[in-house]
Amino acid sequence: MLTLGIETSCDETSVAIMNDDGAVRCNLIASQIARHQPFGGVVPEIASREHLRHLEPMIREALHEAGVTLQDLGLIAVTNSPGLIGALLVGVAAAQGLAYGLSLPLIAVNHLEGHLFSPYLKETGPSLPLPARYFGLVVSGGHSSVYDVRTQSLQISMLNRTRDDAAGEIFDKVAKAIGLPYPGGPEIDRLAEAGNPDRFRFPNPRFKDESADFSFSGLKSNALRLARTEGVSADSEPELLADFAASFQRAIVDQLLSRLDTLWKSGRRGEDPEEVALSGGVAANSEVRRRLTSWCAGHGMRARLAERIYCTDNAAMIAFAGLQRFRAGQVSDAMRVVADSRGQIGIQG
Ligand code: KG4
Ligand code: ZN
Repeated sequence: MLTLGIETSCDETSVAIMNDDGAVRCNLIASQIARHQPFGGVVPEIASREHLRHLEPMIREALHEAGVTLQDLGLIAVTNSPGLIGALLVGVAAAQGLAYGLSLPLIAVNHLEGHLFSPYLKETGPSLPLPARYFGLVVSGGHSSVYDVRTQSLQISMLNRTRDDAAGEIFDKVAKAIGLPYPGGPEIDRLAEAGNPDRFRFPNPRFKDESADFSFSGLKSNALRLARTEGVSADSEPELLADFAASFQRAIVDQLLSRLDTLWKSGRRGEDPEEVALSGGVAANSEVRRRLTSWCAGHGMRARLAERIYCTDNAAMIAFAGLQRFRAGQVSDAMRVVADSRGQIGIQG
């Protein structure tokens, strides 16, 4: 059975076709970054119009690339939440039309659930087997959370969240403030390679109630203040810029791992998840990848890092999450699926 995946929740239009065994037949991604770059962030109206322009030709192209026709499809999976409402609507309407016209089952997929399963996708060949239980760390431009995923029952619970900004968001905001192009995460990652992460110190926030929640806005304000006082900008001397990037990046990763530590310590021994699966745009970050791998090794767990092509938004992960829901018998009523800009994880539209 072939699954068609459609993703239009933010600034990437993506269409994928997946085999029953989780192998990705094709995964087309049209990034709108160049369209939004002059504005320093995603402009919702532009995003919707771009999805409208690209989606239909991309579905045709995906079928062509996979060497199949619409009649060969057995399932349609589409992101219906959370995201930009106008952008989501484009994908949902197209998926509903196809499901209705072809009499196919439709699965409404929560975008975060797509990220959560993405570390098990391979660039070539079938997907990796899912462990019975894992911690899913999703770090993107809009979200930073750890989830407890039980794969047999498809029970997903959120263990923490960010109380303010998301990790990717502060990468982008701080990068923008010092004059680096959007999106700032990859720029900081690149600059940090040559930098000294010990040059500048940033506090790792703690809550009075010992909560494992993330909080990145204090770190952002500190970084913005430091950039002003030290005169850090895209044109400052390379050593200063690299040291700033490395120190800032180090502080973000420190916080991610310290929260995992807290969650791990608060779990009952003997019930530990087997793996930590890292996903979302920030999962492409070299330091996050390196340090999560060694954290897992020190805690008797396996690190599953989403392959870089599956870190940023893509439809392969949506098809894959849809396939899990389909296998669990959770098919959506095609005509009742609605786009929901703020949908919670695990709840079907
Ligand atoms: O998952 P994604 O494509 O979109 C959302 O759902 O938000 O994530 C985009 C985010 C942006 O904030 C971008 O700066 C960040 O991922 N990002 C990175 C890296 N590559 C992308 N952040 C740090 N290091 C990277 N290498
Ligand atoms: Zn995403």
